[in-house]
Amino acid sequence: MRATHDTRADESGMPGAPIRGQFPIFEHTTYLNSCSQGALSHRVRRAYEEYLDGWDERGAEWEHWVERAETMRAAFARLLRATSDEIAVTTSVSQGVSAIVSALPFERGGRTRIVISEHEFPTVGQIAHAQELRGAEVVHVRPEPDGSTPTERFDAAIDERTALVCCTTVSYRTGHRHDVPAIARIARERGALVLADSYQAVGAIDVDVGSLGADFVTGGTVKYLLASAGLGFLYVRGELLQQLLPTQTGWFADEDIFQMDISDYSPHSTARRFDAGTPPVPNIYAGVAGASIIEEVGIAAIEAHVRRLATRLIEGLDELGATVVTPRDPARRGPLVCVRSTDVRALVAELAAERIVTSERDDNLRIALHLYNSEGDVDTVLDALRKHRHLLA
Ligand SMILES: Cc1ncc(COP(=O)(O)O)c(C=O)c1O
Repeated sequence: MRATHDTRADESGMPGAPIRGQFPIFEHTTYLNSCSQGALSHRVRRAYEEYLDGWDERGAEWEHWVERAETMRAAFARLLRATSDEIAVTTSVSQGVSAIVSALPFERGGRTRIVISEHEFPTVGQIAHAQELRGAEVVHVRPEPDGSTPTERFDAAIDERTALVCCTTVSYRTGHRHDVPAIARIARERGALVLADSYQAVGAIDVDVGSLGADFVTGGTVKYLLASAGLGFLYVRGELLQQLLPTQTGWFADEDIFQMDISDYSPHSTARRFDAGTPPVPNIYAGVAGASIIEEVGIAAIEAHVRRLATRLIEGLDELGATVVTPRDPARRGPLVCVRSTDVRALVAELAAERIVTSERDDNLRIALHLYNSEGDVDTVLDALRKHRHLLA
């Protein structure tokens, strides 16, 4: 679906300024919670309606659905600068990560270790520990007291027993960015594979799988890709595909789904072998629409905007004497800024009462910035935090 108006930067330098009006929530709310869920746009709403209208008018639109899924795959590929053949369309990060580990033969000897950062989203840590039932051993890489995890800690944990290293790109808990390219170089030298869960990055900062260097990159559409729950992607580096046989699978992963053949397991030659069952069609309609907004505005412009807003926010928090948990160096953070609170639930509730939507993890208030946020939003939340200064550590 095409934009009905120009979505490029206006003279204020804000890339999303012309498009902010497409997100009705900003009429009454300061929305700073894209780390949990992106705001709903008219375009995504229309995409859901298009799905329902087609169902009403034409009944089963099977071929159109398959085409939509391929359109989504191609959009994910463009966003990550991968090829479509390196992208699986999944229903969640969990599905993609479970498929990866199902292709690693822990119970048949060889490499049995999974190294995980302490900042993995619970699903990644839990899936790793579930592999203990298959003979795997999980090694945790602990962060420094300031929340950062120096690459040397990964260096010390990765060895010839390591099958997989999980280093999330941007921490959902603190906003720290791992040095994934450096970790990936170390892992590759030692023959281990690397997974970079990039849910807290894709859509807001440039995630180029080539320069990231990870073998697997996963994420989904509900946050910075501005669309639905229940839709994700898994990038698998092309050269690896032939050696990975996921045993968590489904008929959409077959080399020919239309053969309906149940006599053997013959996975697709591309990353489609990491697909599973019927694609999440309504979510794909929304996903295509959400990704089109990101692509039209352009990831470089979004990243620069988010970086400027985060700097403004951190400077304002410093003026309040608050404890900012997220690094000041823009290269070491993404779109999420976290600040320590003495009672974070109370703080989120106080802000919500003023129609400022944020979220919390651990003792940190999470303030997420995206293309539709403005300097005004940053100043609004800073003013409110000044008022509730006693709830900041
Ligand atoms: C970093 C990260 N990974 C994964 C997820 C979600 O995983 P799933 O798609 O399996 O629900 C989230 C948030 O919901 C997240 O922030």
